[in-house]
Amino acid sequence: MRGIILAGGSGTRLRPLTSVQSKQLLPVYDKPMIYYPLSVLMQAGIREILVISGPEHVETYRTLLGDGSRLGIRIEYTVQDAPRGIAEALVLGAPFTDGEDICLVLGDNIFYGHRLPDMLREETERVDGCTLFGYPVSDPERYGVATVDDDGTIVTLEEKPAQPASNLAVTGLYMYEAEAVERAARLTPSARGELEITDLNLTYVREGRARLVNLGRGSAWFDTGTHDSLLEAAMFVQVLEKRQGIRISCVEEVAYRMGYVGKEQLTLLGKELSASSSYGRYVMELAGTS
Ligand code: TTP
Repeated sequence: MRGIILAGGSGTRLRPLTSVQSKQLLPVYDKPMIYYPLSVLMQAGIREILVISGPEHVETYRTLLGDGSRLGIRIEYTVQDAPRGIAEALVLGAPFTDGEDICLVLGDNIFYGHRLPDMLREETERVDGCTLFGYPVSDPERYGVATVDDDGTIVTLEEKPAQPASNLAVTGLYMYEAEAVERAARLTPSARGELEITDLNLTYVREGRARLVNLGRGSAWFDTGTHDSLLEAAMFVQVLEKRQGIRISCVEEVAYRMGYVGKEQLTLLGKELSASSSYGRYVMELAGTS
């Protein structure tokens, strides 16, 4: 399975924070936002990852993350000329995914949970059609909302329903069989001129081949699209990290724990980050060098 991080969009709700800066490079407490979805893919065992962003920002991502070799993974980059919809990521990513199954994650979504890595690894092995990840929320009308049968097969899926049929929001993490690329290419743009991810997912719902995995109340999911949600996500990360003395979505740590890099490389990564950064010191401590 290959991964795609979609890190474009207009970020209009976050202006002026996003007037010159890409949303997914904004800080979420101690690290750039994109580290969170990147660590999700890495923890799912995915080591080949495409980052898609707008023409004005894509080179900044390349400067930040490089070709991924420092983390023992491969990262490539593609431009999305204009925000023509989330489903366009599959079309733009086709040369990269090259007939493999795909895990798409939105660059502004933050996931955290003890069981998440194991759950994701299991799901990468058994995609048939599409697998979506649901999260119980108090305000489902703001999201795509799914209802499922006893096996987790999605029965209904509605975008921002006025009368939500459940409290299960569809998060920005999606797994697809390779054939989804052709389906995405056949979609017609919606009234707002976008290739809608819900339209793609509905093609699988109609065939009974869309599954929903409920992340459940034992995990956390944030999208960081507004000033308040961005701050709330940062405060969540700060509280957990301070209380437990750990770092959430530290990509250097994930690379080490997943066996993508060894201790020597981890030491190098820590030194590059510098001992005057508490994040850098954390990485050095992991490598046993501080
Ligand atoms: P949204 O939050 O729907 O849109 P946005 O980020 O452009 O923000 P706003 O609504 O404030 O204008 O996008 C969800 C994620 O998908 C986000 O990470 C941006 C990304 N995205 C793209 O990269 N390309 C696109 O064409 C779209 C629609 C979204």
